[in-house]
Amino acid sequence: MMGFRTLDQADVKGKRVLLRVDLNVPIQDGVVADATRIERMAPTIIQIADRGGMVILLSHLGRPEGRDPKDSLKPVAAETARIIGRPVAFVDDCIGPKAEAAVRAMKPGDVLCLENTRFHAGEEKNDPAFAAALARLGDIWVNDAFSVSHRAHASTEGLGRILPAYAGPAMEAELAAFSRVLDAPQRPLAAIVGGAKVSTKLELLGNLLRRVDVLIIGGGMANTFLAAQGKDVGKSLCEHELAGIACDILLQAAAKSCEIVLPVDAVTARTFEANAPSRVVPVDDVGADEMILDIGPRTIEHVVSVLGRVKTLVWNGPFGAFEMEPFDTGTIEVAEAAAELTQAGRLVTVAGGGDTVAALNAAGVTDRLTYVSTAGGAFLEWLEGKALPGVEVLRQK
Ligand code: 3PG
Ligand code: MG
Repeated sequence: MMGFRTLDQADVKGKRVLLRVDLNVPIQDGVVADATRIERMAPTIIQIADRGGMVILLSHLGRPEGRDPKDSLKPVAAETARIIGRPVAFVDDCIGPKAEAAVRAMKPGDVLCLENTRFHAGEEKNDPAFAAALARLGDIWVNDAFSVSHRAHASTEGLGRILPAYAGPAMEAELAAFSRVLDAPQRPLAAIVGGAKVSTKLELLGNLLRRVDVLIIGGGMANTFLAAQGKDVGKSLCEHELAGIACDILLQAAAKSCEIVLPVDAVTARTFEANAPSRVVPVDDVGADEMILDIGPRTIEHVVSVLGRVKTLVWNGPFGAFEMEPFDTGTIEVAEAAAELTQAGRLVTVAGGGDTVAALNAAGVTDRLTYVSTAGGAFLEWLEGKALPGVEVLRQK
């Protein structure tokens, strides 16, 4: 990756390597419920250990206000040990005498996980004194956590100002995949933007309009566009107050020759629950007491035909209420089509965002797409065209 110092260029032998990973994984009843993020970092940990480095894992978990046992990384350290197949020591602080003693006790090849960085207020404030306390524990800093690089925190950014800084291989792979879709994509380039609200994705839509050839809008946010076009969306999730902004986006798209794809039919129901009685209607025919919960078959067919004529796809957000059957159909069928085209070498597909990953996992296509990012907020900010502090600090000055 141009402009970055990368882990393979670092001499890690006998060195204390502070490795920023994103161990912010869902925990249920004290057990890691989804280990995808840990699995992505595992090769980096093993690589540093095998090269004779001492691996010191740094991460946050949740959004604690001070020390909170429910956000302890202890169970995550245990799960990491299971995944890498080696012991991972744990110490219940990330700075100070205890952490320093634990690091002093390390030998080359050892792995140590420090407690949640957000147990200290200095982390999110990017306090230089806190960053310096972290820096005492290491000789170099490796950032392998793209998914938290939108935060200018001490462990994601501050350390890069103090210690020699390197991009880890997971970070590199993520940036390479992204650059393939937005920096130098094979055209035509399409984007799928779904999810509930237009209001949270205004900047993203604005940036994508300038860069993509086709913008496919799905999920609850499509209703806001349909309503802005004068359609009655009944009781559907809809931000009626954004009608003006939605019209504006459509006008901007027309001016930039960006083709917009909106639903032409929908699956509606009267109640928001799994297996609620539903019907398929044209979007002009939604009943006053109905909600749009998914795209209909004609829309699916249209989206799939668009995917058949583009070369690159960036995907953020599901089409319908994918967490409830049968309203996951649109997302699953489009995902399946994207996976088939990708496997056939006809489409480069990069997807990301919290709900998107859950939807693509449920559809069983994750392994058949070009790249699926585990990043939520960071992926959105990247799609918005923003510079990410945890990435910028890695650039060689
Ligand atoms: C995430 O899960 O989005 C990252 O780990 C960042 O967490 P945050 O949104 O609490 O900063
Ligand atoms: Mg987040």
